[in-house]
Amino acid sequence: MTHPAETETLLLREFLAAGDGCVSGAHLAKVVGLSRVAVWGHLHRFEVEGFAFEPVHSRGYRLTARPSGLNAALIRALLPAGAPPLFFLDSVDSTNEEAGRQLAADRAAPFAFVAAEQTRGRGRFGRTWFSPSESGNLYSSFAFRPSLPPERVPLFTLWIGLNLCELLAAETGAAPQLKWPNDLHFGPRKVAGMLTETRGDADQTRELVFGLGLNVATPDSAWPRELAAHATTLAREAGRTLDLNTVAAKVIACVFAAAERFFARHPADEIAELWRRHDLLAGKTISVRQGSETHTGTARGIDADGALLLRTSAGRTLHLRAGEVTLRTR
Ligand code: BTN
Repeated sequence: MTHPAETETLLLREFLAAGDGCVSGAHLAKVVGLSRVAVWGHLHRFEVEGFAFEPVHSRGYRLTARPSGLNAALIRALLPAGAPPLFFLDSVDSTNEEAGRQLAADRAAPFAFVAAEQTRGRGRFGRTWFSPSESGNLYSSFAFRPSLPPERVPLFTLWIGLNLCELLAAETGAAPQLKWPNDLHFGPRKVAGMLTETRGDADQTRELVFGLGLNVATPDSAWPRELAAHATTLAREAGRTLDLNTVAAKVIACVFAAAERFFARHPADEIAELWRRHDLLAGKTISVRQGSETHTGTARGIDADGALLLRTSAGRTLHLRAGEVTLRTR
């Protein structure tokens, strides 16, 4: 028997494929293997979520409205067929936490979690990630069981970030950049943060959770004052309204596809090429704080393991594996 969520996905896909056109009840019933009465039951539930269907005499129904807020059924229907499962929560402490709990409980990976709200969304260095509901933001986590040498994990995050830069460039027509090691920016403003967390032993990373917080369409008034000056959104950079569910589906598909490519082979040449295109720090004077130490110098790209190359004024090149970067104005 088909799971109700799969039935919903199949139904919505038929409407999305028809665009402005009509879909007949008989056709829908055939696609999902249910009676027409059962199909209309599903469509009525969709209407409660903000979809609208217009009857067209003797031809069926047309989709005339879809929800603007995050909607799990719509995102699933917009994902490519065969995409890994997507789970949706109205509220959770942190999608990274939830993905980790599900891996620990042996849920088959890969899978993704999206939440409308996080009550304890977190960033690097134990910071809080601003995660209210109905914010126009995407809070998402992706879980994998990779069998990956631990030293390749930083490169995984950079690779996904670079692939997201390519996607966001296409979506906005602007130029997103990666600020090593985990921020996506448009110029000085941050649009997304990535948080990769792993479990395993010294030789192998066996569980990997990649978390992404992405500002898609946050209204200016929603930002707390301390973030307002440093944050941006995709909609602002694109200069137009963006559909949150469409963006979410593209982002989720991009992360899954990029992860699959990374685990299948080492995309070293592609990383080097994408890094040249999207490196925010290239040639800039920066400080990198590592615990109580701070290194200052010129950013010179990354090495084969994804470590940041920092050329100091003494002429040494440091390979920094972690740290917090501050751009210096000279
Ligand atoms: C950072 O910039 O410090 C990383 C931020 C990562 C935030 C995302 S939101 C979804 C996922 N769940 C979390 O608790 N954190 C990540």
